[in-house]
Amino acid sequence: MKTIASIALVALGLGVVAWNTLSVPLPDNWSDQESALIQSMALSQLPALTPDPSNAVADSSLAAELGHRLYFDTRLSGSNTVACATCHKPELYFTDGLALAVGVGIGERHAPSLVGLSHSPWYYWDGRKDSQWAQALAPLESSHEHNTDRLSVSKLVTSDPLYLSLYTTLFGPPPELPQTIDSASPLTSSQAIENWNQLDIKQRTAINTVFANVGKALAAYQRKLLPGASRFDDYAESLLQSNAIDGSDALSDEEIAGLRLFIGKGQCVSCHNGPLFTNHDFHNTGVLSLSGNLPPMGRYDGIRLAREDEFNCLGDYSDAEAADCVELRFARDTNELVGAHKTPTLRNVSETAPYMHGGQLKTLQEVMQHYNEAPVSMLSHNEAKPLGLRPVELRQLEAFMHSLTAPLTTDSRWLASPDPTQ
Ligand code: HEC
Ligand code: HEC
Repeated sequence: MKTIASIALVALGLGVVAWNTLSVPLPDNWSDQESALIQSMALSQLPALTPDPSNAVADSSLAAELGHRLYFDTRLSGSNTVACATCHKPELYFTDGLALAVGVGIGERHAPSLVGLSHSPWYYWDGRKDSQWAQALAPLESSHEHNTDRLSVSKLVTSDPLYLSLYTTLFGPPPELPQTIDSASPLTSSQAIENWNQLDIKQRTAINTVFANVGKALAAYQRKLLPGASRFDDYAESLLQSNAIDGSDALSDEEIAGLRLFIGKGQCVSCHNGPLFTNHDFHNTGVLSLSGNLPPMGRYDGIRLAREDEFNCLGDYSDAEAADCVELRFARDTNELVGAHKTPTLRNVSETAPYMHGGQLKTLQEVMQHYNEAPVSMLSHNEAKPLGLRPVELRQLEAFMHSLTAPLTTDSRWLASPDPTQ
């Protein structure tokens, strides 16, 4: 009798287990496929940063230390007033709240967030840089951003005692720099270009070497800027564990309806996918060009510029072997990239208005309307199609965008200007 009773109990137990795993519907009636898609966007699915073979110090904490100081240092500008942090402010998720960024002058592009960006194989809206260190060099020499030049930057880093000591520990003693001139660059003011043209190859290489190392330290710092788990992630985690209903009230009904549109009728997930809500690729989404400007060629020009860049993965200042530069060597190069821009992350997007490459759209509401209408592109064609969503659905999509915001996981000491006395 005892045996039969226990067999009956075991059978009942198995029945309960089977009933638990097979018959309980997923929360909010997601299909298995939808649930898997949502889970794939959870922050826990974000892999650790892969090493950057072109930057030997990418994961050095000492390099991050140096990069942190450089990032907030206004002496790295022609006017002594502009730092990277001027346009990528920690308190705004490393954006600036402006449509067009303002440095020494005003540019033609909106400043994107730097959070989680180190996962991207390409930098800038048009992807004209193939590494985060090569990107960091460009604003320093751009007349409307830092408006300085590579010799001035190199001299600062090798004359400030703290910088010099960090630099020497990381890269060895700096090469000798030209003493008789203050500025030199092949790209900036006419005086700096004239000076550059007077230098021999050895002097140019010395300057470029120090300059590239400044970029490598700035990249090491930015690799610390990583997103934190948001309410969306709590929700996605609750789907990962079939019996955990806990996180499933992390989202309101309206936000869940927005998520359903995001992965369904809205087709947003075809470009905004993975844990960073970006496929890291380039698309034409019919965003109007800024008034008075020709429509930009976008990635079509960007890939050409990346290939020509002397600081790219294959260049003399890269630490990579040619075999490591897979992204650059095999990058797609077709007419469909005319007018295409990089898909931005949507993490923290509620806090990073305005939107798009020229800050053309002021609010998330305007972004949702833009996708609903899918205007004809001025160049090439808009890959997104009109959605025909009702106003209530647009509000739901917008509400969902707000569930992707959370404080960074980054240690707070990286989020403020470093203490100059330490
Ligand atoms: C004057 C404002 C300004 C300053 C100063 C500035 N940036 Fe930017 N940053 C921008 C703008 C605008 C863009 C987008 C430009 C483009 O795509 O053509 C950008 C793009 C970037 C990107 C690429 C973003 C992406 O999504 O691919 C990175 C990384 C970056 N900046 C880091 C830096 C660093 C590091 C510094 C300091 C050396 C710096 N920025 C200084 C405005 C600024
Ligand atoms: C064909 C690919 C594609 C699809 C589909 C798509 N996006 Fe985008 N998204 C992009 C690209 C590319 C940009 C940047 C465009 C630009 O600046 O020119 C962008 C920009 C955005 C921005 C602005 C982010 C910022 O920081 O400026 C938001 C918000 C956004 N998309 C949300 C959505 C939503 C919601 C949907 C679905 C209704 C969607 N996207 C569908 C590719 C896409």
